[in-house]
Amino acid sequence: MRRLHLAAVLFVFLPLAVSAAGTKEAAKAPAAPPAPPNITAAMAKGGCKAFAALVAASPDARSTFQSAGDGGMTAFCPSDDAVRSFMPRYKNLTADAKASLLLFHAVPVYYSQRSLKSNNGVMNTLATDGSANNFNFTVQNEGEQVTIKTDASDHAARLKSTVYDKDPIAIYALDTVLEPVELFEPAESPAPAPAPAPVADAPKAPKKTRHRHVADAPGPAVAADDTSPADQKKSSKKSASPAAPCLRWLAALPVAVAVAAALA
Ligand SMILES: *[C@@H]1O[C@H](CO)[C@@H](O)[C@H](O)[C@H]1NC(C)=O
Ligand SMILES: *[C@@H]1O[C@H](CO)[C@@H](O)[C@H](O)[C@H]1NC(C)=O
Ligand SMILES: *[C@@H]1O[C@H](CO)[C@@H](O)[C@H](O)[C@H]1NC(C)=O
Repeated sequence: MRRLHLAAVLFVFLPLAVSAAGTKEAAKAPAAPPAPPNITAAMAKGGCKAFAALVAASPDARSTFQSAGDGGMTAFCPSDDAVRSFMPRYKNLTADAKASLLLFHAVPVYYSQRSLKSNNGVMNTLATDGSANNFNFTVQNEGEQVTIKTDASDHAARLKSTVYDKDPIAIYALDTVLEPVELFEPAESPAPAPAPAPVADAPKAPKKTRHRHVADAPGPAVAADDTSPADQKKSSKKSASPAAPCLRWLAALPVAVAVAAALA
């Protein structure tokens, strides 16, 4: 009868202790941070080969694109057709202007496609360098279609597809090269300017961006940004301290054995 007690106690506690040790191992695995993607390789793979080649050929643009990814970034890469027809004008630019044009195609904030749709308005880009070089553009929805407009072009670029999307980096393909008004003449007959979406009163700078273009800026004009990279990261830190429950079970085992032994 008492033997039966001991057997029952061991029967209940042993598997628990063993399985707790098992979960400790399993919980450890996902803790390693995923390697950041190779931005140009991701662009090339997703249908923006020509744009990726231009970025790779511009040392300033290449290093900024790659490092901006650490703190969150959304890039917009024009399709190969769009880049091809733009090349005569691109070749006409100085090396600095080329880098600015390329960096004009990314913002230092991660936007999923859904959050992009709900964050319309003026946005600063990786090319933004203080108030002298605004290099901003306007994101607008036309129905379900996300578009990007600059003052230098009379029709907006349209988001065609998602090239890459894994927090903290998103890359979307565009049907047109974005033309910053800082490098190209303003559109000749601007359509009656659509009322720009209101911009937050006191824009705050994203804290994690390292590149000087952004660090010097007075703050991105990212309107109503409620999905900061910091917020997005919180969710990845949940699986903490798997060791505690395991130790508790192991500690319980000798006690259970002692109790059983005392009863015997
Ligand atoms: C990214 O991939 C390209 C080839 O697509 C390669 O030339 C480049 O060195 C890679 N960059 C990094 C930082 O790994
Ligand atoms: C190149 O730049 C020159 C001088 O700014 C301009 O006159 C010419 O139209 C440009 N060519 C192209 C293809 O944009
Ligand atoms: C965006 O850039 C334009 C042109 O450089 C500038 O006039 C405007 O003030 C900028 N808007 C914001 C919100 O920074």
